[in-house]
Amino acid sequence: MADEVPVVVITGASMGIGKALAMRWAKEGARMVISARDRVELEKVAREATSAGGACVAEAGDVTKEEDRVRLIDRAKSEFGRIDVLVNNAGRGYYAASTDIDVNALADLFALNVVAPLRLAQLAMDSLKESRGMIVMMSSIAGVAAVPNMGAYAATKFALEAIAMSMRGELAESGVGILVVRPGPVDTPFRENSITTNTEAGVRPKGSRVQTPEAVADMTVRAVRSRSSVVETSLFVNVGSFASRVVPPIFRLVNQRMAAKKS
Ligand SMILES: NC(=O)c1ccc[n+]([C@@H]2O[C@H](COP(=O)([O-])OP(=O)(O)OC[C@H]3O[C@@H](n4cnc5c(N)ncnc54)[C@H](OP(=O)(O)O)[C@@H]3O)[C@@H](O)[C@H]2O)c1
Repeated sequence: MADEVPVVVITGASMGIGKALAMRWAKEGARMVISARDRVELEKVAREATSAGGACVAEAGDVTKEEDRVRLIDRAKSEFGRIDVLVNNAGRGYYAASTDIDVNALADLFALNVVAPLRLAQLAMDSLKESRGMIVMMSSIAGVAAVPNMGAYAATKFALEAIAMSMRGELAESGVGILVVRPGPVDTPFRENSITTNTEAGVRPKGSRVQTPEAVADMTVRAVRSRSSVVETSLFVNVGSFASRVVPPIFRLVNQRMAAKKS
């Protein structure tokens, strides 16, 4: 990646973590193309980021639609002539017991949380290879640890992690890096924007502390700069991630207790 200020494409930048990322990169004078469906909010973020020192243009669209994905990547190329960083951040939650998951809604969730990031990476690949750039996959602690009522959401983030893991190996020779970001709970409109079925949105595990989107954005920008592979954004995520993979019996016990509290 060039030493000059990067050209960054950020999806889901009308609010939450994506907006915080645009504002954080703006401080470094980054050139950005940001995307989300809400044109009015997106243009507001683009103006704010430009006032804060970046060069930020809004390209409104739905990342589950192929024509909008193509338009987004083309806009970055035509506006700035290159892409250094693609941040696949747009995503949605789904809170439901596994027996209540609506399979059509789950298919839509996969289209947004898994297919869109993969497809955008494919579309941006030539530019990313030229710049020896980075792809950021906004995963979650749910990408490595599934808790009760979050099976659908976790399934999409596990799938995203699988693609990222595979892609990292495939692209090693090309110089394109893959960064997976795993936040825990973050203070954004995420829970209100999630799908819910017969359950309260966002029952949060005991001990989880809510982070600010700015903290997650700051860690992400630093991790891109150092070309890290994974960033877990809090101690809570470190513990959950370790427990689910290294001491699964303990994780199963915690899961059972969480499920019992909810029933
Ligand atoms: N907040 C958390 O606790 C948390 C924890 C771990 C991981 N994450 C992950 O972090 C990412 C960002 O989450 P957030 O908390 O910032 O959520 P958020 O506040 O709900 O923001 C989601 C963003 O995605 C955009 N979006 C949704 N559907 C879209 C579509 N079809 N096409 C284009 N854009 C779309 C939304 O804008 P429009 O509605 O305008 O399209 C919005 O800008 C997600 O991938 C999420 O899974 C969040």
